Amino acid sequence: MSESNLILKNISKSYYQANNSLSILKDISLEVKSGDFIAVTGPSGSGKTTLLNLVGLLDTFDEGTISFNDKDLTNLNSEQKNKFRRNNYGFIYQNYNLLENFNAIENVALPLILNGYNKDEATQRAENIMRVFTIDDRSLHFPNSLSGGEQQRVAISRALVNNPKFIIADEPTGNLDSKNSDLVFNYLKNYVESEKMTLIMATHDDELASKANKRIDL
Ligand SMILES: Nc1ncnc2c1ncn2[C@@H]1O[C@H](COP(=O)(O)OP(=O)(O)O)[C@@H](O)[C@H]1O
Ligand SMILES: [Mg+2]
Repeated sequence: MSESNLILKNISKSYYQANNSLSILKDISLEVKSGDFIAVTGPSGSGKTTLLNLVGLLDTFDEGTISFNDKDLTNLNSEQKNKFRRNNYGFIYQNYNLLENFNAIENVALPLILNGYNKDEATQRAENIMRVFTIDDRSLHFPNSLSGGEQQRVAISRALVNNPKFIIADEPTGNLDSKNSDLVFNYLKNYVESEKMTLIMATHDDELASKANKRIDL
């Protein structure tokens, strides 16, 4: 597998609101090597989500650069950013962000359909990844009839179904009780390791963060 390095250099970010500027990230640098598991830690409000959104090319910043294998990503236009995201990233949002009008397997298959797979193949692949996360027995459930832990396993399946290089996970177990949190985290960590994916995870849980091989504390 080829090396794929994502490099953040001297990133600073402020939010501006009603003439006030609120400095959130100051001079953050980070090298993400393929196969890394990076924990982004810090108390609530410290900028974890802000940083993940920057890494994910979902938001702009004031200073610094982000590059991937020496290619500068900072100045891509929004279409190029979308394409880069589609080809390289899987996102796991803190609040699952499942589409309420689609059942579980349709939610998981959606990224494949958007990438041009036909429905049968997308459904088959969705089913395979849902089996890995032992959520295939809830395929036909809509999000509002799934527990939090189940919704999160659907959301994780959706993020991984495209086999992305980078998994960006924003407190993926933040809303779960400790038993489900361990279960979901262990599934995620094992899968990411077995597929040689790179995981960037925000968490305020020290025990989970201690399992990372790099840590950035905000
Ligand atoms: N769009 C925004 N506009 C203004 N301030 C924001 C915005 N998003 C986040 N913030 C502020 O930035 C700080 C960091 O937020 P966030 O990155 O969500 O932190 P965390 O994920 O670590 O809890 C918070 O104080 C929050 O109020
Ligand atoms: Mg957050």
